[in-house]
Amino acid sequence: MWRPPEKIRHRPASGLWPTRDEAARARLFAPLRYRALELAERTWVPAMVPWRAAEDGSVTDAVLDWYARFACGQPGAIVVEATGIRDVPSGPLLRIGDDRFLPGLEKIVQVIREASGGRTRALIQLIDFLTVRRRLPREVYLARFLRVTETHRLRLGMDGAEEAAVRERLLGLDEAALFDVLSDRERDDLDRGYRERVTDTDLPHIADLPARLPDLFARAAARAKHAGFDGVELHYAHAYTMASFLSARNTRADGYGGDLSGRLRLPLEVYAAVRAEVGSNFAVGARYLSEECIPGGNALAEGCEIGVTLARAGMEFLSLSRGGKFEDALQPKIGAAVYPYTGPSGYECMPSYISDARGPFGRNAIPAARIRQRLQADGFETPVVLAGGFHGFGQAEAALQEGQADIIAMARQLLADPDWPRKVRLGCGDEVRICEYTNYCEALDQKHAPVTCQLWDRIPVQNAARTQDGKRNMTAPPWSPEHR
Ligand SMILES: Cc1cc2nc3c(=O)[nH]c(=O)nc-3n(C[C@H](O)[C@H](O)[C@H](O)COP(=O)(O)O)c2cc1C
Ligand code: SF4
Repeated sequence: MWRPPEKIRHRPASGLWPTRDEAARARLFAPLRYRALELAERTWVPAMVPWRAAEDGSVTDAVLDWYARFACGQPGAIVVEATGIRDVPSGPLLRIGDDRFLPGLEKIVQVIREASGGRTRALIQLIDFLTVRRRLPREVYLARFLRVTETHRLRLGMDGAEEAAVRERLLGLDEAALFDVLSDRERDDLDRGYRERVTDTDLPHIADLPARLPDLFARAAARAKHAGFDGVELHYAHAYTMASFLSARNTRADGYGGDLSGRLRLPLEVYAAVRAEVGSNFAVGARYLSEECIPGGNALAEGCEIGVTLARAGMEFLSLSRGGKFEDALQPKIGAAVYPYTGPSGYECMPSYISDARGPFGRNAIPAARIRQRLQADGFETPVVLAGGFHGFGQAEAALQEGQADIIAMARQLLADPDWPRKVRLGCGDEVRICEYTNYCEALDQKHAPVTCQLWDRIPVQNAARTQDGKRNMTAPPWSPEHR
């Protein structure tokens, strides 16, 4: 995991907690209504993959326990983790690419309704992603996976040679010589593992993405509505397909890349297809990046244009994240896949307590404020959801009062203590377990291990469900106001 070179240690400070009466007057606990999005309050659990789905992508009891536990804290909304829209094997990631997933998804909605007493709205994040393979040992890549071309033969002076002979020669080259023979892309495949890009239009299934994705997203959204969700969040952020279409690095020459209007074309077509399928009484929003935080990526100026365009199209909310890209991710170990939260842009997405002078708290607040200002200047009231290092009441309330956002999302803080919204609303803020921003949870995500918080294990809980190795609690310790 990359860290800012300054390596300054920051401590989260919750600040003062409000009394129950003060909380009742706070903007954070005021309802929000915008078209089909209706929230009892402005706290929001953003999407977090907890690696609890079954191998076939279906909902397990552990998934239900996870969402029920967040719902006990009665946030304004929970966005269920990134859920795959295709009907293809994707390991233990939730899927919504076929009707057979509906019964499980319906249960998620039920547990959120029941555990929150009907206070929390249930949304689900819809994701498409391209193939990413593990990094291979050099000899395996050169002997089996590299596609031997005429360019290699030419560079090696082996015109007309058999493929096996070319591979043999490549295997014998030292690093510098091999560097000269391979293309940039082949070197990247060797160094970091093979990864598809939206610009690989020589591959028919990549060229076809604009023809296929609107329908895939629309059907997934229809299933979400059928399962009882209150809305969907289109995943246009981080390292995944739709964010790659939006990216300034998207050079597709088929009208779906190049200038910003070309890059916005597919995101708008996906949204139009989704809206046509679910109608106007269902919330549809997007998560996208205020800034990509990579060289040559979208900057805030593009973030503002994207926001205005999606608002004009009619979205119910814009959830802003930042960074989290493959392009600057650290080289994975052999046998591991590249993980988009390990480089400088990954740091911007989930900053840890070891930081630079700006610190890890609220790094996305100023960009979000600019985007919201621009929306308002253009006459849009579309709610902006802001995430990134929020943990204190004063900090969240100030961001709302200063107009940086309309809704405050807390991922790691609500993982550390899912009861934050209820505790603070009831005047029990001094009982909040504050996140330490160590990114222990994120390291589990990287290993595709069940995500838990290290703070849960410091509290003894009788008969708590444990991870398979028996070492960690699977959910946060229970809390109720009566225990005071
Ligand atoms: C374990 C874990 C899983 C995550 N999974 C997702 C995801 O599925 N979709 C997404 O958009 N963001 C995901 N994120 C990013 C968070 O939603 C959030 O943007 C980020 O953690 C910064 O917010 P925070 O400082 O409040 O944690 C994940 C974060 C964590 C820690
Ligand atoms: S493990 Fe817990 S304390 Fe550490 S960053 Fe994650 S949520 Fe916060």
